[in-house]
Amino acid sequence: MDPELIPALEEALEVSPGNAPLRRQLGNLLMGCGRLEDAEDVLRAGGEAGPATPGLQAALARCFAMQGKASPALAVAESLVHRDDASPDVLLSVCRTLKSLDELDAARRAYRRAVELDAEVADPVLAEAIGADGAVWTEPDADEAASNDHDEDEDADEQGRVILRITHGGNPFEGLEIEKPDVNFSDVGGMDALKEQIGLKIIAPLENAELYAAYGKAIGGGILMYGPPGCGKTHLARATAGQIDSAFISVGIHDVLDMYLGNSEAKLHTLFEYARSNTPCVLFFDEVDALGAKRSDMRGSAGRQVINQFLAELDGVKASNDGLLILAATNAPWALDSAFRRPGRFDRVLFVPPSDAAGAAAILNVLLKGKPQKAVDLGAVAKRCKGFSGADLKAVVDVAVEAKLAAAMKSGVPEPLTTKDLVKAAKSVKPSTREWFGTAKNHALYANEGGQYDEVLDYLKMR
Ligand SMILES: Nc1ncnc2c1ncn2[C@@H]1O[C@H](COP(=O)(O)OP(=O)(O)O)[C@@H](O)[C@H]1O
Ligand SMILES: [Mg+2]
Repeated sequence: MDPELIPALEEALEVSPGNAPLRRQLGNLLMGCGRLEDAEDVLRAGGEAGPATPGLQAALARCFAMQGKASPALAVAESLVHRDDASPDVLLSVCRTLKSLDELDAARRAYRRAVELDAEVADPVLAEAIGADGAVWTEPDADEAASNDHDEDEDADEQGRVILRITHGGNPFEGLEIEKPDVNFSDVGGMDALKEQIGLKIIAPLENAELYAAYGKAIGGGILMYGPPGCGKTHLARATAGQIDSAFISVGIHDVLDMYLGNSEAKLHTLFEYARSNTPCVLFFDEVDALGAKRSDMRGSAGRQVINQFLAELDGVKASNDGLLILAATNAPWALDSAFRRPGRFDRVLFVPPSDAAGAAAILNVLLKGKPQKAVDLGAVAKRCKGFSGADLKAVVDVAVEAKLAAAMKSGVPEPLTTKDLVKAAKSVKPSTREWFGTAKNHALYANEGGQYDEVLDYLKMR
């Protein structure tokens, strides 16, 4: 294309800034002339002027990659792999960008997804270069399938790829336990906004089913919580069940993988049925991203079928009718297929940040319950715990308790915990949430489709 077109395209874009194809063309042209920063500006402005289409985002990813900005390039490229409106051509372009970043796993995902959508776009040379046609998948051999006493096993082949071996037979839900949690909202410090949302969106409909029906108010769907590790997602889910005195079933990655491997949508259906037969019940999918992310890793359509079954089960859940509350948590929401976020599925997505000072004080209060203590000024301790997750705060209390124990062993006199002890302990603990925000920031800045990570930007004061 002719560089002399640039001014004309710029002019045209000024008139219709929402014209995504035009913007992409200008971006590509600028990149072609080596004007990478200008191209970046043009492409990034696309998200403000109109929808950030997959085409625009793919061009932006390439633009970042050409400038050596690996993290934002990766954030944007990976987010595209999980968008269900990305065309096969866009996915191939993303695949090439990922290859240039040496992110071969992600490149293979993009490639497989492209070919899954349209086998015609298969590009053997590209596939070879990223190792996409060496199947990662192994079927169990006949011997293994025949014996029932194999556990799921992880192995690596000579290239270090992980192979999951499969258990056949046995109870599909062995290890899935029904729990009656003995914690409730009073054991969850802070997180007031989240408790309120959960109360409003899922507990109230459950407890007032007739009222909702009378007003014809549709209910159903689940809540997806995301945020840095250790900030109380799992704890809050369990406490939700305790709060309404319901059963709690936690389904982890391994159970889900088992379902893939056991070739069975039927098992997934049984799981939902199992939960329905134990109502009221909180059905909690922990680290649900493994599910979404695996979809494009699965060979052929088998994985997709299981996901579709999962989505169908979600669609079939009406909280009022069967007393089933669906919660899920993830540290990596960007790895989750966008199909999960549709209305009636995980349509409420809540950010679970590290607590503020008041929240930290409330969490410390919960954690110190029943421990010998003397006039602890929680506020003063909380001030030293900026950016601490609930797990970090737990570490602070543990460190302080251990120091006290050691001292008591020496002196033979048990002393209560003081503000000073806790402040000292807080200094020895580093907040563990920074790394997460480093990654999240890239997704929020460069792949913030529909403003889905606005809360993260707000938390980082970047908006
Ligand atoms: N709001 C809170 N109140 C009390 N304890 C908390 C809170 N948040 C986290 N914790 C503590 O930190 C631990 C880790 O939290 P968890 O729920 O597993 O985090 P996540 O699931 O977000 O990774 C919990 O087991 C709990 O002891
Ligand atoms: Mg958790």
